[in-house]
Amino acid sequence: MAKVFLNNISKVFDNKVVAVNHINLDIKDREFFVLVGPSGCGKSTILRLIAGLDEPTEGDIYIDNNLVNDLSPKDRDVAMVFQNYALYPHMKVYDNLSFALRLRKYSKSVIEGKVKDAAGILGIDSLLPRKPSELSGGESQRVAVGRAIVRAPKVFLFDEPLSNLDAKLRVQMRAEIKKLHRELGTTMIYVTHDQIEAMTMGQRIVILNKGEVQQIDTPLNLYNKPANVFVAGFIGNPPMNFIRGTITSSNGYIFISGNIRISLYSDSKKQLTGYEEKEVILGLRPDDIYEETTSKGLLKTQTFSKETLKLVVEFIELMGNESLVYGKIDDISLVMRAPADLRCNRGKSINAHLDLAKLHWFDCITEKRIEKQ
Ligand SMILES: Nc1ncnc2c1ncn2[C@@H]1O[C@H](COP(=O)(O)OP(=O)(O)O)[C@@H](O)[C@H]1O
Ligand SMILES: [Mg+2]
Repeated sequence: MAKVFLNNISKVFDNKVVAVNHINLDIKDREFFVLVGPSGCGKSTILRLIAGLDEPTEGDIYIDNNLVNDLSPKDRDVAMVFQNYALYPHMKVYDNLSFALRLRKYSKSVIEGKVKDAAGILGIDSLLPRKPSELSGGESQRVAVGRAIVRAPKVFLFDEPLSNLDAKLRVQMRAEIKKLHRELGTTMIYVTHDQIEAMTMGQRIVILNKGEVQQIDTPLNLYNKPANVFVAGFIGNPPMNFIRGTITSSNGYIFISGNIRISLYSDSKKQLTGYEEKEVILGLRPDDIYEETTSKGLLKTQTFSKETLKLVVEFIELMGNESLVYGKIDDISLVMRAPADLRCNRGKSINAHLDLAKLHWFDCITEKRIEKQ
């Protein structure tokens, strides 16, 4: 059990590729902490730096308050599970699991006990005599996790361990890894590029882009209060819609973009003071756009926009429980989440309203969230 602290960490490869750019992370003891971001944003590099497989160009790494920059991987007491599992193909599962313990010269009986315990936790006892080539993807994944568990490390590092599994197994393994975290109570640092995996697993999440921290927060705060346009567009499926426009305030606050005109909820004033007659970015989740005749649309509240927005339907994805409607207002593309009972046709327009209490606002230049004053 341990906390992990990254202080002003950078990693530059070959004097030119800035993989990680001055990052600070303060991961708590026993926390399930997720690193998420698009491919190439520096996630694996950060894990490798913590594991000691790479050296930082700048900054300090602490595990349990101890500076570990100069410690070799084996002395850091962390265990990493890789995306490709990295099992030894010529060894049986039992030997894969016991390998690290044999290196550490544990007695045969101690090793046997630890391997049996790990295999029991993961339900892989029957796989112990097999070779990796005789395992399914899910079984290999469990063995890779087992190999980390037997070492009872202070910190687990997972690098996209579920990416090679099919969708159903991924959901199942997500739950298993969470359960494992509850049972072991060990700090886990988990890397994924999948925002749904991040949201469902992380107690806290760091969102990375181009080697830089975008936001560190709980899943709900990331969704409800994204710090900038990048986070807003990254978290949520389908992604948030963005519309550039101007705020006018001669007669109440109004957002205008081409033919779109939205009279804002009185509360917006608190947020948009200082942005009068300026350009802003409006962020609109697909869930907060309503078609007026549907059951969802009928639940009108005070915070419903009074103007009707005419959305010309381009295509519809029928999901069974709901529909995703993709359309355009002028030349602005939008997607909305609609109830399955919505009747609409391609090329026809539907009347949409917005929930004014759910709008997100971003500065046009910095792309940062505009906070309430
Ligand atoms: N050994 C290396 N040498 C040079 N560039 C590297 C090396 N490892 C990673 N990079 C670069 O660093 C950036 C971050 O890579 P990585 O941490 O693997 O991203 P992620 O895991 O988020 O996909 C990428 O631009 C990648 O090409
Ligand atoms: Mg990676």
